[in-house]
Order: sequence, then structure tokens, then C-alpha cells
Amino acid sequence: MAQSTPALSRLVVGNWKMNGGPDQLYAAAAIARATAEDTPEPRIAICPPATLLHRLSHVLMGSAIMTGGQDCHVEAAGAFTGAVSAGLLAEAGARVVILGHSDRRQGSGEDDALVARKIAVAIDAGLEPIVCVGETWAQRNTGQALEIVRRQVRGSLPPALAGQAFAVAYEPVWAIGTGERASEDDIAEMHRAIRRELSEMFLGSRSAPILYGGSVTPEGAAAILAAPEVGGVLVGGASLRAESFVAIIEAAREADRPARETRRADRD
Ligand code: PGA
Repeated sequence: MAQSTPALSRLVVGNWKMNGGPDQLYAAAAIARATAEDTPEPRIAICPPATLLHRLSHVLMGSAIMTGGQDCHVEAAGAFTGAVSAGLLAEAGARVVILGHSDRRQGSGEDDALVARKIAVAIDAGLEPIVCVGETWAQRNTGQALEIVRRQVRGSLPPALAGQAFAVAYEPVWAIGTGERASEDDIAEMHRAIRRELSEMFLGSRSAPILYGGSVTPEGAAAILAAPEVGGVLVGGASLRAESFVAIIEAAREADRPARETRRADRD
């Protein structure tokens, strides 16, 4: 059914979090070599710590891999010691930015309203926001997961996103960095709910991919990517090693194959 087929090629995003010295650039170069095929699918991005962004963008220049930030400041400019603005990320080569990650919602007290303002600033700087939402284990256990995530989607995504490139990442908080991931059924249920919200909020637009994140591994990637409405994955730990990240990219390329062949047939 067309309803369950993502409209665009999948998006695979690596979130290096607070990891990565200069040696990590070798891993990125290896990922670029291993994924240098003539097909543009899937889209790939790596989000390193801000300290590596400029160098990583340089290393990946000429490859199809985008770079991105892991957060940005809510103001476009100003005297904010220690902060990085969306514009500075863009100048350092970023094309995407992760916003509203649970590390920031939980660890730095970011709420939906703040995330929405950051998204607007990111859009102004020409960045594609990847907006994270997800429930805690206690919320899932008490049957509130759908409600919480729907509320986060409604509260975090500003009207300014209409017509813009963006992605939503469903990352159950309890699955992040734990080795325990959501089941395909739960992922499909949540992704359908998010798609419904997006369709209502943005007048039926089907272009924004909905990613899954939380303990994605090469072993689990194919099943996750085959679930309805899964438009890609946001990968933490497994994105740090070239071998595991490349295996996940290959799973996404495989998942994109039917859509790619349909497009090719339509063209010929
Ligand atoms: P993980 O992290 O893949 O290590 O669980 C995902 C994330 O935090 O985005």
C-alpha cells in the first residue's frame, strides 16, 4: 500500500555525541570510501562534536555524506559564551542539525517550546532540522507513549517548517544507548501516529522522513528499516565505527531498492 512507502530515499544519520578526536576522521573517510556508489540513496549525514565539524566537512567534501550539528543555540547571534549558533554550524559545513535530542530534553531541561524556537533559527540558517521525540520507560509502561510523543510533535514543530526539508526522529528514551530497542510493531505504531500528526499539521505533506533511533545495530537495521513509515535511522554508538555504520547504510540502501527501481522504471 502506498501509504506505508516513504516518499523519499531513506536518511541515515550518525550521532557521535561527545566522542571523536582527530582519529575519528579516519573512520569518516573510510565510511565515505565504502559508500561511494553512483546511487544517491540513502542520504547520509554524520553529526560530530562541534569541535570536529569543520574538519569533518573538509574530509567529506566531494562525497555524498552530509555533516551536521548535534544542537544549536536558540538565538541566531549574540554574546553566548560557549554556545554554537545555527549560522556557525552552517559556516562550518553543516547541512543538518539534530534538535530536541533526549540528552538535551532530559539533561539540559529543553522543552518543546525551546526546541520549536531552535528549529526556526536552524531553518533561517539553511539547515535541515532532525527533530527528536520519544517517551521514557515509565511513560510507556503506563500507556502514555503515543500521547506523549504526539504532544511533543505538536509542541516542537513550528509552522515555519511548512514547505521546508526536515525529519522527525522517534527515539524512545529507554532505548538510547541501552542495547534494548523498540519492537517493529511498536515502531510502526508510533511512526504511523507521527505521520498522522505531520499530515494534519503540514497539510498532508509526505516528504518529511520519520527516522527511528535507539540502539540501532547492523543486525537490527534491516528489520527496523522495513517497518511501515520508517524513513531512516538515527544511530549513536554504532555510528562511531566505520564497519558498523557502513553495514547500516547498506541495509538502508537495500530498503530503498524497490522505490529506486520504480523511479527508474518511471523514467525509462
Ligand atoms: P544509540 O544512540 O544508537 O547509541 O542508542 C542513539 C541516539 O542517541 O541518537
